[in-house]
Amino acid sequence: MISTFDIMPWQMDPGERAALEGLLCQIRPNLSIEIGTADGGSLRSIAQYSGHVHSVDLAAPPDDINELTNVTVHTGDSHVLLPEVLAQSARDGQNVDFVLVDGDHTPDGVERDTRDLLASAAVNRTVIVFHDTMNDAVRAGLAHVDIEAEPKVTHYDPDFLAGRLHYRSDLHHQLWGGFGVMVLGAASRSSIRPSGVDPTAYATYDLVAPVRDALVAQERNGDPSGPSWVRHALRLSRAGDDELLHLRAELAELQRAFDEVTTSKSWRLTAPLRATARLMRNGRT
Ligand SMILES: C[S@@+](CC[C@H](N)C(=O)[O-])C[C@H]1O[C@@H](n2cnc3c(N)ncnc32)[C@H](O)[C@@H]1O
Repeated sequence: MISTFDIMPWQMDPGERAALEGLLCQIRPNLSIEIGTADGGSLRSIAQYSGHVHSVDLAAPPDDINELTNVTVHTGDSHVLLPEVLAQSARDGQNVDFVLVDGDHTPDGVERDTRDLLASAAVNRTVIVFHDTMNDAVRAGLAHVDIEAEPKVTHYDPDFLAGRLHYRSDLHHQLWGGFGVMVLGAASRSSIRPSGVDPTAYATYDLVAPVRDALVAQERNGDPSGPSWVRHALRLSRAGDDELLHLRAELAELQRAFDEVTTSKSWRLTAPLRATARLMRNGRT
């Protein structure tokens, strides 16, 4: 069996593992950084293809990671440690060839790691892989960065590899996985997709997020959900949309009829009568 399908503590799907190895195989980085190591699944692969790797995680990795002689472990917050690692690499005149961003998945965390990387003098000819670009928070963080305006970025695709909508207890109806890829310093600056806009295809996130919303709404209604209820959920949400459209059209028609009456000549002529009736009513109360 090839290692992509091995059961090991690597928090990536088989397709993501294969894509990561495929990229590393082509890049063969001298120097790599991994933000977010956990049990070391992706780190082992990065170390296999890299001259040296800096691993940054809030928690210390498992003991066997220390056997990897080309890995330096940095335990702590990437928002403190990453700028330090980058500054040291810049001082040493080293270029960081490859980065995996898979640490702080909050919008602010993703944005800070991205900005720190883009601002570094050591990040010039670099491939950056962002894990979990299918996730709402990760996407929001990346969307905060004006990638089009970043002069070093020559290619950016937040949907390099699509993620998944989960249906399991701990990640129920959550979107995770997927790779975004950013290339810095390539010869041509041809294929930047600033906010995930691909002129030739729909972004998978834009297709799946509304389906997730429909499934969540269906479940809130007490209806069954799950992989075999997707079409049902879409029909229900469509029915809700249709009803809303119908009500909006009815409201617009009532507004038009009301305006027609209140701007008519007879309405204006009978205004004194209505004013007298109001006065009489007020007098009675
Ligand atoms: C999804 S796991 C990484 C999985 C790993 N890349 C793999 O493929 O097996 C995310 C890791 O990021 C770490 N993390 C979260 N916030 C962080 C931060 N601000 N700085 C450093 N590491 C952080 C967590 O401790 C966790 O181990």
